[in-house]
Amino acid sequence: MDTTPRPLIATADAALAEELARLAAAAGAPVGVVSSADAVLAAWALAPVVLLGADLAPALVALAPSRRPGVLLVGWAPAPGGAFRDALLVGAESVVELPAGGEQVAELLTDLGEVGRPEGAVLAVVGGSGGAGATTFACALGQVAALAGPALVVDLDPIGPGCDVVLALEDAPGVRWDSLGTASGRLSGRSLREAVPRRDGTGVLGWPPLPCALDPGAVREALSAARRGHDTVVVDLPRHGDLVHETVARATLTCVVVAPTPSGVASAARWVAALPDRSRVGLLVHGRCPDPARVAATVDAPVLAVMPPQRGLAESVDLGLGPVRSRRGPLARAARSVLATAAPRAVAA
Ligand SMILES: Nc1ncnc2c1ncn2[C@@H]1O[C@H](COP(=O)(O)OP(=O)(O)O)[C@@H](O)[C@H]1O
Ligand SMILES: [Mg+2]
Repeated sequence: MDTTPRPLIATADAALAEELARLAAAAGAPVGVVSSADAVLAAWALAPVVLLGADLAPALVALAPSRRPGVLLVGWAPAPGGAFRDALLVGAESVVELPAGGEQVAELLTDLGEVGRPEGAVLAVVGGSGGAGATTFACALGQVAALAGPALVVDLDPIGPGCDVVLALEDAPGVRWDSLGTASGRLSGRSLREAVPRRDGTGVLGWPPLPCALDPGAVREALSAARRGHDTVVVDLPRHGDLVHETVARATLTCVVVAPTPSGVASAARWVAALPDRSRVGLLVHGRCPDPARVAATVDAPVLAVMPPQRGLAESVDLGLGPVRSRRGPLARAARSVLATAAPRAVAA
């Protein structure tokens, strides 16, 4: 007998139970159904998710269950006024009104396999100056991190070469920013992971052929789902724009790719100086650099690695292999150093 705890549908409203069971079936999640507050309490601690019907919520509140994550209070729209108070009292994450909120329920159920998975690290990569090699390095990080676990490269630069192009995934089918632009509700980590173009563990969330506008809410939602569904999320960050500081604030580490020329170092220093918080910023010096300590002092951030240029890069990209062709090349080495700082789990043995 399968004794794996199942998500719990808790309602005495037959139509609500039927609708929730339909959503669970669509998400491929077997569920248990109970119709009394006592039965909810009995299953409360073990069920990975509880979909608590608004009809049973007052009776459950009276039983004062302990707090637990993964509870949604679900009812037909419009939710009764007391539903929000009940949701607070049982510690529900939100009140979902059906049928409109069905997607949120489905996404939560789809993400069940991800429960217990730690959130992935987010590495933002930005060029200290134009053409420093940021996009190339972001893609290299995605390739190297994928050797240890699922990785996603998120392309936030609408006028870069396209991470999908660098990774030879531009013709691969899958979700791009134009289809996520209107995402509402909670996007599941698994859905995003399975929807983006991907090869060998490296996925890419990139642009459609004609760049579209990005809604900051959709970007936030996508980054959050990306973390839930991947061990490592790499963001190719433009140097300017609304999303830059917010993304840096959310990142585990921001890696600034610096050209070790006077102008390259000066531009990187100005970019870093404009950040509200510089505590999780490190530098990747791209090019021969006799004095990395001086670069660190000028930019006021630690040098994580010095990376010589990689020979044969254009050929490797043209062949559809992405920037990392060999695990011993400069890009792979530098990627391992940076991952070791920000995402030790993502460095394959
Ligand atoms: N590690 C590297 N070794 C050699 N050439 C590189 C390297 N990284 C980038 N380049 C080259 O530099 C140019 C700009 O790279 P790109 O990654 O698009 O920079 P950015 O995103 O900072 O503007 C490209 O022509 C690319 O092939
Ligand atoms: Mg770029």
